[in-house]
Amino acid sequence: MNFYSIFRSSSLSFSSSKSRVILFRSGDLRSVIPTPTPKSNNNNKNTNNNDMTLTEDPPLSEMRRDYQEGHLEETEILSDPFQQFQKWLHEEVNLKNDKEPNAMTLSTCTKDAKPSARIVLLKDFDENGFVFYTNYNSRKSKELIENPFASITFYWTQRQIRIEGSVVKVSKEQSEAYFKTRPRASQIGAWVSEYQSSEITKQQLVESQTKLEEKFEGAEVPMPPFWGGWRVIPSSFEFWQGRGGRIHDRLFFKPHNKGWEISRLSP
Ligand SMILES: Cc1cc2nc3c(=O)[nH]c(=O)nc-3n(C[C@H](O)[C@H](O)[C@H](O)COP(=O)(O)O)c2cc1C
Repeated sequence: MNFYSIFRSSSLSFSSSKSRVILFRSGDLRSVIPTPTPKSNNNNKNTNNNDMTLTEDPPLSEMRRDYQEGHLEETEILSDPFQQFQKWLHEEVNLKNDKEPNAMTLSTCTKDAKPSARIVLLKDFDENGFVFYTNYNSRKSKELIENPFASITFYWTQRQIRIEGSVVKVSKEQSEAYFKTRPRASQIGAWVSEYQSSEITKQQLVESQTKLEEKFEGAEVPMPPFWGGWRVIPSSFEFWQGRGGRIHDRLFFKPHNKGWEISRLSP
C-alpha cells in the first residue's frame, strides 16, 4: 500500500474573531458583539456595558441540520479502511472550507481509566497507523505512556471517522525528518515549553522564546529530546455519514483473517 503523506506545511492559524459567546442559561446561547458606536437607547440585558450590544442566536435546543449531502452503502465502501479514510480525506480537502481537515480529537486515558481529549494534527498515515507529533512530557504523552491506547476522531462535513487502537512512539529518525520540515518558529516553539502542561507566566514564555532564538541564531534548530511522534495503530474504524431523518449510515471495520470485516451499526 502507498505511504500517504499529508499537510507537511500545515500550521496552526487562528482567525481573529471579535464575538464572544456567553451562556446565560441552559439552552439559550447569545453572542456579544462589540459595536463601534453604542446605541443611546440601548436596553439590552448586558450588565457589564463595555460598549457591547447583545444579539440573539437561536437557542441551542433549536440548532439542528438535516444531513442530505451523502450516503455510505456496503456496496460502495472500500474494503480497505485506510483507503476509505484516504478517499474521504481527499473529498474533505477538496471542499476547501476554512477548517483544518487534518485536525482530529485525540482521546487518551490515565491508567485508572480517567479520560481526556484534545485536538492534534494528523501528519502522516499509512497501513501502519496514524501519526501526530507532540511533547513527550505533555499530559497526553504521560497518559499514553501509562495506558498505551487511544481513540482519534475526525469531524468532517456531515461525516465522522472514529479510529481506536494501541499506540507506539514513532522512531527518532521519523520524528527528526518531520521536525526538519517545520517552520523555524514552530521548531523553536517545540523547545519553549519543556514541561508543556505545567503552569507558566506569559512573560516566562516570551523570555524563554527570546533566549532560544539567541541560542540557535544562525544554526539549524535541533529536535528537542522530549519531542516526537506517536502512532495510533488501528484495531477498529467507524465511518459515519449523516443522512436525512437521523437514519445515518455507520459502517464499522474490525480485524478478520488478516483483513477487515465490515458491519452496519444502528444510527
Ligand atoms: C487545531 C489544533 C491543532 C493542534 N495540534 C496539536 C498538535 O499537533 N500537537 C500537540 O501537541 N498539540 C496540538 N494542539 C494543542 C492541543 O490541543 C493541546 O492543547 C496541547 O497539546 C496540550 O494537551 P495535553 O495537555 O492534553 O497534553 C492543537 C490544538 C488545536 C486547536
